[in-house]
Amino acid sequence: MNKGIAIYPGSFDPPTNGHLDLIQRGSKIFEELVVAILRNSEKSPMFSVAERLEMLRALTADLKNVRIDTFNGLMVEYAKSINAICILRGIRAISDYEYELQMALMNRKLEPTLETVFMMPADKYSYVSSRLVREVAQAGGPVKGLVPDVVEHKLREKLDPAYKFHDANLVEAPEVDKNKKTSDRKRKRKA
Ligand code: PNS
Repeated sequence: MNKGIAIYPGSFDPPTNGHLDLIQRGSKIFEELVVAILRNSEKSPMFSVAERLEMLRALTADLKNVRIDTFNGLMVEYAKSINAICILRGIRAISDYEYELQMALMNRKLEPTLETVFMMPADKYSYVSSRLVREVAQAGGPVKGLVPDVVEHKLREKLDPAYKFHDANLVEAPEVDKNKKTSDRKRKRKA
């Protein structure tokens, strides 16, 4: 465990198993890891900041040195305000590298004392992104194994509002007894 606070900034819309994997790895390396959700994103998010905060808090409840927070404006300013010494970012594939390098160098220009550390999530998550999870879920596809159960649940709730009601009322619908109906009908006709 390294002395010092690290910040893991992102949109987390929604948090994926790849994010969680990186949080777990980061929490073993840094004294404290602050997962920071960007509040003023230009993108129109699927989940509100409050929903993402709640999901990430639930997912990391067992990691005592992980804290979830939100930030506005420049990430390096927020990082300085919490005395972070390091920015943690995940790299899944070469395709991430160019964007991440550009961002790391810009952040270094803005605040030379902050180092960016890259970590790789488990290879089984190397193709998982929040954007693809949203796309698959919106098209009605399965996202099990790509996101934690609590997120899968929230996605289903969000995309099918009836799901919440249905889930809370999982009472077996009475089976229709076709034979009975037929005999009833026969009886009625006879009468
Ligand atoms: O999960 P994302 O969307 O890849 O995260 C991107 C994020 C939030 C880390 C980045 O957009 C960011 O730090 N935004 C805050 C504004 C800022 O500091 N911009 C300069 C970064 S070079």
